[in-house]
Amino acid sequence: MSQGAKFISFEGGEGAGKTTQIKLLGDYLQAQGHEVVITREPGGTLDAEAVRDLVLGGEPGRWSATEEMLLMYTARSQLVRTIIRPALERGAWVLSDRFADSTMVYQGYAGGVPVDKVRALHRLVLGNFNPDITFIMDIEPTNGMQRVHSRAEALNQFEKRDTKFYERTRDAYLAIAKAEPERCVVIHAAEAPEVVAANILHHIKTRAGGDL
Ligand code: TYD
Repeated sequence: MSQGAKFISFEGGEGAGKTTQIKLLGDYLQAQGHEVVITREPGGTLDAEAVRDLVLGGEPGRWSATEEMLLMYTARSQLVRTIIRPALERGAWVLSDRFADSTMVYQGYAGGVPVDKVRALHRLVLGNFNPDITFIMDIEPTNGMQRVHSRAEALNQFEKRDTKFYERTRDAYLAIAKAEPERCVVIHAAEAPEVVAANILHHIKTRAGGDL
């Protein structure tokens, strides 16, 4: 498969503005005449959305971190097989609101599943399939949580955890970015949305070469 730089995931803590940035980038790419597929995890297919309701509904602690990891990878496997791979094969751009790094961070580093187990499951399910670029939307946990609480929506079980948990997830994302600098780009998400969008586009143009 020659996919260039077309599979892009957005990661980061709650309230980092992933959804806004995905929409802005999707609109830009479409305006350039590209097919764009936007998806999210957990979710993105009918069944995976059902898994999402199962995992995110209810109180924290309903599932063990290992159970959460297995559910996430079950949903992810179907999403990749039925939506993401076919889209990339057609030459579409795929923008995903979260992907495998979320499992590594939330169930692995912050949830306590040994990271080599998370890696082994990834290899089993997806081999070496990964995004071409991952934007890690970095924001102070307290700032991000203020943004989440100012939304009208009910909080999901992950949004009810304490500040320590968010600090752990932030540190874990930064550790992944450091370990995989060729794939990951850390974005200062507290800046104005249009500044963040310009920054993201700059990185994509640099990586995509002639594709854009
Ligand atoms: P969502 O409401 O989409 O949060 P956000 O707007 O921050 O993306 O909820 C997704 C939650 O699921 C989020 O708290 C992170 C968590 N999650 C995991 O714990 N593991 C995973 O593998 C994925 C994809 C998400």
